[in-house]
Amino acid sequence: MKHATWTPEWEVTLYWDLVIGSESETAFYLTQLRADLKHFDIHDVDGLVVDVGSGALGGVFGIREFRGEKMIVDPLATEFGRRYGKIPEGVKVMDGYCQDIPLNNDSATAVFCIEALDHCNSVDEYRQSADELARVLQPGGRLYFMIPLRGASRDGHYLTLETMSVEDMEAAFPLTVVKREVSNGHLWLTMEKPGIPLQQRIDALSDDRQWAGGWYQPIDFPDGSRTHSTKLSDAQFYGSECRGIRKWRKAIAQHLPNLRGKSFLEIGCNAGLYLSQAWREGAVAIIGVENHPYFARQCRFVLEHLCPCAPVTLIEQDATELDWSLVGEVDVVLLANALYWVGYTDEHGAYPDRDRLMQTFLSGLAHAAQTVIVVGAEEGKQYADLASTTALLAPWFDLRTAEIVRVNDRVLNVIVGESRCRK
Ligand SMILES: C[S@@+](CC[C@H](N)C(=O)[O-])C[C@H]1O[C@@H](n2cnc3c(N)ncnc32)[C@H](O)[C@@H]1O
Repeated sequence: MKHATWTPEWEVTLYWDLVIGSESETAFYLTQLRADLKHFDIHDVDGLVVDVGSGALGGVFGIREFRGEKMIVDPLATEFGRRYGKIPEGVKVMDGYCQDIPLNNDSATAVFCIEALDHCNSVDEYRQSADELARVLQPGGRLYFMIPLRGASRDGHYLTLETMSVEDMEAAFPLTVVKREVSNGHLWLTMEKPGIPLQQRIDALSDDRQWAGGWYQPIDFPDGSRTHSTKLSDAQFYGSECRGIRKWRKAIAQHLPNLRGKSFLEIGCNAGLYLSQAWREGAVAIIGVENHPYFARQCRFVLEHLCPCAPVTLIEQDATELDWSLVGEVDVVLLANALYWVGYTDEHGAYPDRDRLMQTFLSGLAHAAQTVIVVGAEEGKQYADLASTTALLAPWFDLRTAEIVRVNDRVLNVIVGESRCRK
């Protein structure tokens, strides 16, 4: 156990001089860091993002864009900048140790601390650092933490499984664990500072300048919190059979096969209510496609709170640009009030080449989907009403159902088809 203690000299001469001195070592380091980020559940946030123990290449800011203010805190931050000149522009540089972070309480919306606390020179130092990392986070802010689980001490790495158990490493943080992964000798934790009531967080995801006026889908959360529309009264919003769980029950559920064990894809999944419903009904592989970043953000939030363990992938892409290889073959695909948006935007109306876009989309859809369920609206846009939608789908799907559903405040149509391109 020689030189287990971390020192600034060790860090520079035995680590960064070597990493930065060789292109292949630098590339390897950055690849590892990119891979680390995939293990976290990262919220795209405004506000202050800090990488504590960032290292000489600017930590996460060297490999990923962040909307908010960016800062690194490292005992050698200034020295790294001076010696190697590799800290990305626009990143604030602060000298400081994890166990004494030069930031106010509740000041950061996100903190990264990757492969740094293994350098603590005692368990006490580790515990103090865990408290510090939590202290500087805002309520609702997230800490993305990784530590290698070494069996025995090595140069500069005191904190190992010999000195602390994995359970104690995790329990040292006064934070709520959102995601935990232990694999390949590493512990990755996404943790959140509690404190903001769920309703407040739901309301913070509502922007009445957006097209639906706050939330489009009425969604109830287990603690009694709920989403709100800024355009409709609660009675209209939750009472509408054209939206949310009432639309599922009125127009969708009776056309679905038993979802147990099935794969399910929703195009235009909005805030993800139907993805969570498919999971409740037993679907085992679930994909949502949503192109609007505002709704995609709501969706990530809803999934995390309604079904954090569900096997759901959200693809944030325009359906016309969808990489169908990410989707593969799917048993059931739902397009609920979504098909008529494909190739159409609120600002610009229909794209000039909408028909071509639509045919490319339908070809991808018919090769991926076994059963497709399309809900339309008897009004407005092209491909919304029953006649034009039926004509559009018929070359690609054998249509089983094509019916009008009368609901309390509007009229919907529902078309169900089996793919002609899948056996
Ligand atoms: C009327 S909402 C319906 C939402 C949900 N399917 C439901 O029935 O509650 C239409 C959704 O489709 C999304 N959308 C529109 N065009 C899209 C496109 N080209 N690709 C993916 N999603 C799209 C919108 O952002 C919106 O969330």
